[in-house]
Amino acid sequence: AVAVPPPASADDGGHGVQVSSVRGPDPEAAAASGIPVRRFTLTARTATVALASGQRIQAWTFDGRVPGPALEVTQGDLVVVTLRNADIAAGVTLHWHGYDVPVGEDGVAGMTQDAVRPGESFEYRFRADRAGTYWYHTHEASDRAVRLGLYGTLVVRPRAAADGVDLTLPLHTFGTALAVGDRDQPTTHAVAPGTPVRLRVINTDDGPHRLTLTGPFRLVAVDGTDLNGPGVLERVAVRLPAGARVDVAVTAGAAPVTLHVDDGRATVRLAPAADTPAPPVDTAAWPTLDQTRYGTPAPTPFDAHSRFDRRFTMVLDRGVALADGLPKYAFTVNGRAYPYVTTQTVREGDLVHLTVVNRSRDTHPMHLHGHHVLALRHNGRPFTGSPLWMDTFDVQPGEVWEVGLRADNPGVWMNHCHNLKHAAKGMAVHLAYA
Ligand code: C2O
Ligand code: CU
Repeated sequence: AVAVPPPASADDGGHGVQVSSVRGPDPEAAAASGIPVRRFTLTARTATVALASGQRIQAWTFDGRVPGPALEVTQGDLVVVTLRNADIAAGVTLHWHGYDVPVGEDGVAGMTQDAVRPGESFEYRFRADRAGTYWYHTHEASDRAVRLGLYGTLVVRPRAAADGVDLTLPLHTFGTALAVGDRDQPTTHAVAPGTPVRLRVINTDDGPHRLTLTGPFRLVAVDGTDLNGPGVLERVAVRLPAGARVDVAVTAGAAPVTLHVDDGRATVRLAPAADTPAPPVDTAAWPTLDQTRYGTPAPTPFDAHSRFDRRFTMVLDRGVALADGLPKYAFTVNGRAYPYVTTQTVREGDLVHLTVVNRSRDTHPMHLHGHHVLALRHNGRPFTGSPLWMDTFDVQPGEVWEVGLRADNPGVWMNHCHNLKHAAKGMAVHLAYA
């Protein structure tokens, strides 16, 4: 039940698909009915940006900054964002990564809207009824444009604000430097002993990062969704797939707590005083966090044994496939490259089962727009611990993931690898409502 789109302009991205028009709420009507409206304007433009180390980068920015402005709203707000494009010749959009917006707000150039050209603008609007950690980025020429800086963070805070310190930490690689926000060198946050701290770590890169902490922590949320009953973890590493987010809770003690990314390529210290040195850590021997330690079980609306209305298999590989009308070396889904991959067609209300098989030698962080999927099985083994709802999950070489979702957000959606170089070379498919 996708409404008829308004007349499309000539540029539909070349793939001949133009949906849209399931739009978010009208801001005037929302304001009249007492819904708080939060307005932002983001202007995309080229700029030279100095990182904390002094390194200067030629960036594509929102508002001249990398990352773009941190958008922070409260659960229940209507978020209205006007995107302007000053001089990004490739065109630009805003995709709300992990936030399940109506399809007309999803920001997929050539599909849900045309890319915004220099001098043009587009207004996005969606109700932020779901608290959590998300991010935004352009979805036009995104393999290049996100790397160059067209991204930022989106945090929806719960109505009842938690005590303590809340830090949003987007990770991004600039050349050889791994930056946390705009800090490409170790940072220290002065935190009084006993203060609860929530770290919202966001991977805006094309590959995974490895997170370790020097003290006990709890993994409290994955991809914007709280885990159920997370226990205290110690000496375990957390894998953060490209595009994914984890929220980690720590309590600053008398000793500083340090977050290491990739065993020290980037560090964030929470210290009672800014000059307390971090203790040396041997992270090499730490085991990877096993999914069975993701909290405790809780009821879910469906599980691996439910009767699914549709089942799709996605075999991920590399090889020669038709792309742009020519055979090319491509990243493929079921032997084909986007847009020639057979669409996954569903009906509203369907319970959908996806099996994702990786036959290639590369890791593929798979990202479905507009929906969260529930992890069902990994290499045939059922998930235990907390229900795990994800929008982006790593499928490593040889792995088989089974996930489920409820088709509850009509439209045509991208389901693609968030190694954006892979996506640009074909690893994408549409999930479309009939
Ligand atoms: Cu964050 Cu289609 O992407
Ligand atoms: Cu990939």
